Amino acid sequence: MANLSIRNLDDAIRDEIRLRAARNGRSVEDEVRVILREASQGGHTAAAGLPQEPPSTAPNSREILRQHEGSQPKVTLIVGGGIAAYKSLDLIRRMKERGIHVRVVLTQAAQRFVTALAASALSNERAYTDLFDPQSEFDAGHIRLARECDLIVVAPATADLMAKMANGHADDLASAILLASNKPILIAPAMNPLMWGNAATRRNVAQLQRDGIRMIGPNAGEMAERNEAGVGRMAEPTEIAEAANTLLRPQRPQPLKGKRVLITAGPTHEPIDPVRYIANRSSGKQGYAIADAARAAGADVILVSGPVELDEPRGVNVKHVESARDMLAAVEAALPVDIAIFAAAVADWRVVNEGAQKLKKKAGEAMAPLQLTENPDILATISKLEANRPPLVIGFAAETEHLIDNATAKIKRKGCDWIVANDVSPATGIMGGDSNTVNLLTRDKATGEIAVDSWAPMSKEDVAATLVARIASSVTKDNA
Ligand code: C5P
Repeated sequence: MANLSIRNLDDAIRDEIRLRAARNGRSVEDEVRVILREASQGGHTAAAGLPQEPPSTAPNSREILRQHEGSQPKVTLIVGGGIAAYKSLDLIRRMKERGIHVRVVLTQAAQRFVTALAASALSNERAYTDLFDPQSEFDAGHIRLARECDLIVVAPATADLMAKMANGHADDLASAILLASNKPILIAPAMNPLMWGNAATRRNVAQLQRDGIRMIGPNAGEMAERNEAGVGRMAEPTEIAEAANTLLRPQRPQPLKGKRVLITAGPTHEPIDPVRYIANRSSGKQGYAIADAARAAGADVILVSGPVELDEPRGVNVKHVESARDMLAAVEAALPVDIAIFAAAVADWRVVNEGAQKLKKKAGEAMAPLQLTENPDILATISKLEANRPPLVIGFAAETEHLIDNATAKIKRKGCDWIVANDVSPATGIMGGDSNTVNLLTRDKATGEIAVDSWAPMSKEDVAATLVARIASSVTKDNA
């Protein structure tokens, strides 16, 4: 059987599978296996020996699989003939950046501004130009272009094209597609301000709005014509691509909306002198991935990061620190939070006799021994707080032997609620690598019993998303 990887799936489907897995207490791989098994059995029976799925509002396995078939949303982009047509080439790129498959149709007039060759090079698809093109008409090409997409975007929508749309004309490929379509349509008008203000255009705009056509822009500003300004500039390609993306992928569920999540990540640097320090090999990738996943789940995220070579995750409040003591101070300053996740590889010791100046080596003399003292244990400190203890405290345990036993002892010793335990012996390549094999230990608040859930090897992003899905389902349960 081919290797399974959910990394290539559409975001929404991937999140849905993770949520299902978390809800059913399975690893993501096991969940996918169940889905495939159910699908092969016609979706009627749950796999033998596996728990029946609880009634859920999530799409069932067949729906997930169906959605994944060609999971990229498809746009038919109709380019009208105006000076703004040159921006449509950028629009193709902006939509592709957002994971949207684009097929381009050029009106006759549009071809005077951009070539079919440029449009097809950027979209990696043939660009369509002619209603009576034998290559596409043999199976009613305009019908396919109208229907085999999730959205039609018209950019620029000229005054003439809007008039045709408002009146149901179908005398060229673009207008025939628009008339034959049963898909949502987004138009980006672009024209001279006087044409935009003309009573005929006003009537057409009102008619198109009544017909349920979505519109973006036009914006106000300078026109291509000299000394002309006003309302009529086409919306910028990024604005149009964003609007298309929002229509294609409506807001995903945000189970951690309203929750404050604190995450530590990366190593700490413990100074020996102004230029030297003690550190470890932590890359910070796992903690950063968790911050990103928590943000995607709607949380308000504070990431306290040791020195790493990673870009700050978008939409996350990042506090950069160097030493363990700085990290503790930043963590305490961030309280209160609803969930605290301590993924940092904090140095256990720091140097007491830190040199105020760079230590000089003296020929033939051994270096003065470094005196080390223990660093504060941030996880234990926060877990044992009387006031302001976060309701859910999660630690990490990186072990090279007796993984579960050591992690079980650690959850008790440190007083946290969950531990994400992983084997970091060099052979695993986890330290600094891109994937992770983890076990999640959860302590029952009432009984103190510890349950172990072993996850299949997966990328650090998938570990992050699975952990966040588990947190979301636990938070939802606690609130119920
Ligand atoms: O004791 P050990 O370092 O194995 O514990 C690992 C867990 O404790 C991690 O969650 C780590 O972030 C946290 N820790 C901490 N402060 C320390 C040492 C570890 O927060 N000084």
